[in-house]
Amino acid sequence: MKKLWGGRFEKEENPLMKKFNSSFEIDKRLIFDDIEGSIAHAKMLTKVGILKEDEGEKIIKGLEEILEDIKLGNLELKGDFEDVHSFMEFNLIQRIGSLGKKLHTARSRNDQVVTDLKLFLKRECSIIIEKIQCLQQTIEKKALENPYIMAGFTHLQPAQVITFKQYLMAYFNMLERDKKRILNTVDIMDECPLGCCALAGTTYDIDREFTAKILGFKRPVENFLDGVSDRDFALEILSDLSILMMHLSRISEDFIIYSSCQFKFITLDDEFSTGSSIMPQKKNPDSLELIRGKAGKVYGNLLSLLATLKGLPLAYNKDMQEDKEALFEALDTVKICLDILDGVIRTLKVNKDKLLKAVEDGYLNATEVADYLVNKGVPFRDAHEIVGRIVLYCEAKEKSINELSLEEFKVFSIFFEEDIYDFIDYYKILKRGIKKNML
Ligand code: ARG
Repeated sequence: MKKLWGGRFEKEENPLMKKFNSSFEIDKRLIFDDIEGSIAHAKMLTKVGILKEDEGEKIIKGLEEILEDIKLGNLELKGDFEDVHSFMEFNLIQRIGSLGKKLHTARSRNDQVVTDLKLFLKRECSIIIEKIQCLQQTIEKKALENPYIMAGFTHLQPAQVITFKQYLMAYFNMLERDKKRILNTVDIMDECPLGCCALAGTTYDIDREFTAKILGFKRPVENFLDGVSDRDFALEILSDLSILMMHLSRISEDFIIYSSCQFKFITLDDEFSTGSSIMPQKKNPDSLELIRGKAGKVYGNLLSLLATLKGLPLAYNKDMQEDKEALFEALDTVKICLDILDGVIRTLKVNKDKLLKAVEDGYLNATEVADYLVNKGVPFRDAHEIVGRIVLYCEAKEKSINELSLEEFKVFSIFFEEDIYDFIDYYKILKRGIKKNML
């Protein structure tokens, strides 16, 4: 396939080098953005008089036809091309003849590729935001349907009574921040690099405001060298996605624990579980384990791009071509993980009785017993000490705190009265003070 740059070369490229240099298999995903950017560029070249009206029209029509043919499946993204830009230009020239060769006036693949990538990412980000919102709705629905009391944990040890609703909504809030991070990344990257050309702009008096505007960017980038070599936005997305995956991994870990035979707080649906080839009784939470596992892959994508960019001299370097693999893999991984987790949560069952049992077994009202004594004038530190001894006693007697008689309570402090039972009732605890928010 004819290259975009053969003129100054006397020898053919080594076949291995050609293969090594080609990014088409990866960057063909940018074809729609490459065409959109090219149409905007052609419109601008026409507007400023670099292309004649009819030339601009023919080029744009050619590009639109390529787009249509790809959508209809009449043109396959296949062939021996260096990259998606070569594919697009080759097809344009094939369709409209040598007029197609004028499209690359006042443009380099360096500003072209980063423009494509930004257009692509803006679209991908809105897909991810939609998926996060879907997951949030599923979480909220499940939370509202299951307002039951449960044991909240710290150090994975039963700590205090909470509600399943409040527990699940913690993840809703995390996802809210994930959305904000992604929107912020899009806001920062919303500058158009087109017209920076290779690194130094162009002697043509092009209209960068115009291309920025019709491509939906807020403004053109200010500095040409920075414009073509900036991949901060890719790193930012990867770091947003890494944090998002960390959240998905944490919820997965919780659900793996909560669905285990030892806990049985929740039951995962068969649809999102798998079996063992040897142990017939097994129902494994593979969906969640895979999400947890894939978080590591997304972190790897972030670290690989950080390492790729570190130490690159200004401006564009071919190392940057490696950005796409990391980005595409991370985006695809996050999208499927969001969908899978949505399905897991939508179909899981919450086991109210098991949640309650863990509350009763866990001395989860010990803090409230201390609060009770504080209300009677005992300093908190002393109250803490007294309740610690009550728990030791309960452990020895294999009783929960509310099963103690008033006489037993009084052995530990004379301040205990009949109203202690009401004060440490789990349902009433949740109705008191700011804990009301959990109901
Ligand atoms: N395929 C390249 C990339 O993805 C864009 C082409 C830039 N090539 C060049 N020789 N300057 O970064």
